[in-house]
Amino acid sequence: MPATLIVGTQWGDEGKGKIVDLLAADADVVVRFHGGNNAGHTLVVNGEKTVLNLIPAGVLHPGRICMIGPGVVVDPEVLVGEIEALRKRGYLKDDRWLRLSERAHLIMPYHRAIDRARERLRGAGSIGTTGRGIGPAYEDKMARTGIRVGDLFDEVGFREALERSVREKNGYLEAILGEAPLSFDAIHDCYAVYRERLRPFVADAGEELRAALAAGRRVLLEGAQGVMLDVDHGTYPFVTSSSVVSGAAAGGAGLPPRAIGRIIGIAKAYTTRVGGGPFPTELTDALGDRLRADGDEYGATTGRPRRCGWFDAVVVRHAVALCGVDGLALTKLDVLTGVDPLRVCTGYELGGRRLDRPPATQRAWESLTPCYEELPGWRESLGGARSLADLPANARRYVERLAALVGAPIALVSIGAPRDETIRVGDVF
Ligand code: IMP
Repeated sequence: MPATLIVGTQWGDEGKGKIVDLLAADADVVVRFHGGNNAGHTLVVNGEKTVLNLIPAGVLHPGRICMIGPGVVVDPEVLVGEIEALRKRGYLKDDRWLRLSERAHLIMPYHRAIDRARERLRGAGSIGTTGRGIGPAYEDKMARTGIRVGDLFDEVGFREALERSVREKNGYLEAILGEAPLSFDAIHDCYAVYRERLRPFVADAGEELRAALAAGRRVLLEGAQGVMLDVDHGTYPFVTSSSVVSGAAAGGAGLPPRAIGRIIGIAKAYTTRVGGGPFPTELTDALGDRLRADGDEYGATTGRPRRCGWFDAVVVRHAVALCGVDGLALTKLDVLTGVDPLRVCTGYELGGRRLDRPPATQRAWESLTPCYEELPGWRESLGGARSLADLPANARRYVERLAALVGAPIALVSIGAPRDETIRVGDVF
């Protein structure tokens, strides 16, 4: 049975964590394939809130195999902390439930230092990165100077690679970024501790994943961020440093592309973005504040307030087309209760011309204006709805209109954080 893939269709924070957690109930293996601890998935299970940054959201289902694939960049300090926090709460009882690819690149302290220093120097033009060292770690990977998880276990090789890197990065930190140098010994000693903590989980994750699929196991691939943060297809340069689109999932997980079957796109019923960059439907007024408050729109990783705005069908349509989305999971519909009328962006206007797709340049993003369609809102609580037919007529109409505008059928609608506050329309496996 081919794998099911979950992708974010906006600027991240679409509520993928809840959807992956739900779908993980029917999966045997859940895999992260790109990004790192810039992601933050918030889950509410039995009234208890869990934020995961690296370990796939399937971890709250005992017995699921959670994999961190070769395309991920791993901060071992964060991973060790996450493992320990989960263990304290009774999760991850068996080491075999977490597999960490030996090919995944390590985030090092100098990556974090460079990320933060560059952001400081950019000032008002900063990208608004999460400061977790994601971009600098991917830079080293592409420059072929990165250090991978597997390298930790070749102690001599690791020492040599680290010496080279610390020398080079300290030169850059001091001379160009005006930062203090980092201590080789401190990093070396910390990473020696992480080596032992992570040893039980390190594996040829791609090979294990292919074997699991061949054995008929159900695999869920958990995308992080969202298509508009994709390094090629997003609002460059206000993007993350990995490929977010479905086309990258196979490589990042270690699968052939044909091993992926269904692709589920997650979209929030409105739009949010954290960090800098274009956001045509942003609401900077009281309604934006209300969405932020009602939707608890604060970054799961950094706690930053998220920018909020109307649903942008241009963005989601682009993601649906680019990723080949088969079904849409619409989240946080309940947050729109009481907002009347609702607006949906159906296209952009640029220089007197209508655009149905996102433009490629920053200048175009800055110059366009969104074109809106208005829809009536609803005041009734969505609490008990378990099918589309249970929704108030205007909520159903809103959902159906979004599906038509973006060109994908609805697979699922989330109307609250708990697992059961969900309307399932089809089977996703
Ligand atoms: P970086 O990935 O930390 O380099 O940040 C680059 C941009 O992507 C910034 O605007 C971040 O706020 C954004 N970003 C990265 N990861 C996430 C995420 O998981 N959700 C939402 N935004 C993210």
